[in-house]
Formats: sequence, structure tokens, C-alpha cells
Amino acid sequence: MRVWGVLTAAGSGSRLGAEVPKALVSCGGRTLLGLALERLLAVRDLTGVVVTCPEGLEGLFQETAAAELGPRELVSVTFVAGGASRQASVKAGLEQIRDRRNLLREETGESFVEDEDGEVLDIVLVHDAARCLAPTSLMEDLVEAVESGAEGVLPGLPVVDTVKQIYIDDSGRQIVTHTPDRGLLRLAQTPQAFNFDRLLDLHLFAEGRAASEATAATDDAALLEEAGGTVEVIEGSPEAFKVTTPLDLERLAAALGEPEAGLPT
Ligand code: CTP
Ligand code: MG
Repeated sequence: MRVWGVLTAAGSGSRLGAEVPKALVSCGGRTLLGLALERLLAVRDLTGVVVTCPEGLEGLFQETAAAELGPRELVSVTFVAGGASRQASVKAGLEQIRDRRNLLREETGESFVEDEDGEVLDIVLVHDAARCLAPTSLMEDLVEAVESGAEGVLPGLPVVDTVKQIYIDDSGRQIVTHTPDRGLLRLAQTPQAFNFDRLLDLHLFAEGRAASEATAATDDAALLEEAGGTVEVIEGSPEAFKVTTPLDLERLAAALGEPEAGLPT
């Protein structure tokens, strides 16, 4: 088995409103990029990671990660330009892994055969730099679920609020249609784990939607769901919360024991 990682970090972080791309925002001397990468690189059986960066900033992202983690930590990490949506960025990362995997196949003659079809099982973890404290143990649990045969697996948290489904009427009012049973709702997190080839196929098939965030899938599991595949949920982690707004940065600072950190005001 080989495990690969795609770390999406190509977003601008418009809702956070920092002067730098969200992944480069620091908290107590650590960037979201460095924190997320460090946890991902510690995953057992990890072969390589691709980080998707805002176009033109691949070098800066690489330098930042090297300064924070040490250049030796980055031997298996490549930095590529992301795309116009998260979905497009993930696809760019998967294609980079495909190329590296083909090289590896040539080099090794695929000597470490594992599954019943004579193929090495390649598993990919797709993760957001914005969920920079997601623990390595959670990532390994996801990998294990795919290794045991799951098509796609994600961490999910129970919903504590009552949720209302609405529609918007002609005058723009939000009208409640019903109250879903929240016992059956989950908040989806990343990383999400898949069989590499399956996920790459799904991305190639859905490429037409990736040109803008408005049409793109918001996560990778959605592509598998829409294709009729089975997505499993395992228990999520409160540490895998997403940094989206300045308030989330305060949560990050508190989690890192840096109560004074946050965006400069
Ligand atoms: N992402 C990406 N490529 C994009 C858009 C987003 O790689 N074109 C990444 C982000 O860097 C982030 C993850 O996807 O790690 C989740 O996206 P989100 O939290 O929405 O981050 P941003 O898109 O940067 O933030 P915003 O939507 O507020 O602009
Ligand atoms: Mg976004």
C-alpha cells in the first residue's frame, strides 16, 4: 500500500481577510500550511504529498514550509499551482501524483505488488490546509478504512443546532420548508480518503464543473456520491475545525496556547 496526500492551499482566504493567502497566515509563529503539512507528513506509509498553491506562489510556499519544518522534511513534497476552484486544485494535485506514480512504477518495476489484481493499492488523503490541526491519527483511521475496502471515507461531526431547510420566495424572504432529523446529519470535514485511481477518474469526469466555485463540488466525497459510490463517515475530530473567519483564528490561537495571536487589528 502507498499513501499519497493532496493538501489544498491555493485559496485566497477571502472570508478571513488577511493580507496574505490563508495558508500563509501565522499563529504563534506557525503557519496554517506548516501545521497541516507536519501532521500529514507523519502519516504511516506516506509516499508523497502535493501542496496546491495560488498560481505563482509555489516557490514562496515551498520556502515557507522549508523554513518552518526544515528542508529534509520536504523531500517527498511538491508544490504545484492550484485552479479556479477547490475542485480544480484537487485535480491538479491528483494529476501530479499520477505522474509521480508512473515514474515510481518505471523505477521499481512495480515490485511491491499487493492486491488481488496484482496492483499496488494507492490511497489518497485529500486535506485542506485550512483544517490545520486535523490530527495524524484521524488521517490514519481514514486510510485504514479505505484499506479495508471502503470506496470513500470522511470524518463527520454530529450537528448540535437545529437545522432548517428553506426556500427563497419571490420577494426574497427565507421560508422554512422543513426541519431535517439532525440525528442523521453530519458536518463533513477533511481529510477525506479514497482509492487513488477512483478519485482521479471522478475528477477527470467532473472537470467541466471545476471552472468556478459556483458549479464545483465542495468536497471530493460529493463526486463519489453523485457517481453512485458509497461514502462512509467515521467520527470526526473537533481539532479538524476549519479556519474560515477571524474568529476561527482565535480558536486556533487558543488551541495552540497562543491567546494573544490572531489577525492584527
Ligand atoms: N482551495 C484551493 N484552491 C481553490 C480554493 C480553495 O486549494 N481554488 C483550498 C483552500 O486553500 C483551503 C481549502 O481549499 O485550504 C478549503 O477552502 P476554503 O476554506 O474555502 O478556503 P479559501 O477558498 O481560501 O477561503 P474563502 O472561500 O474564504 O476565500
Ligand atoms: Mg473557498
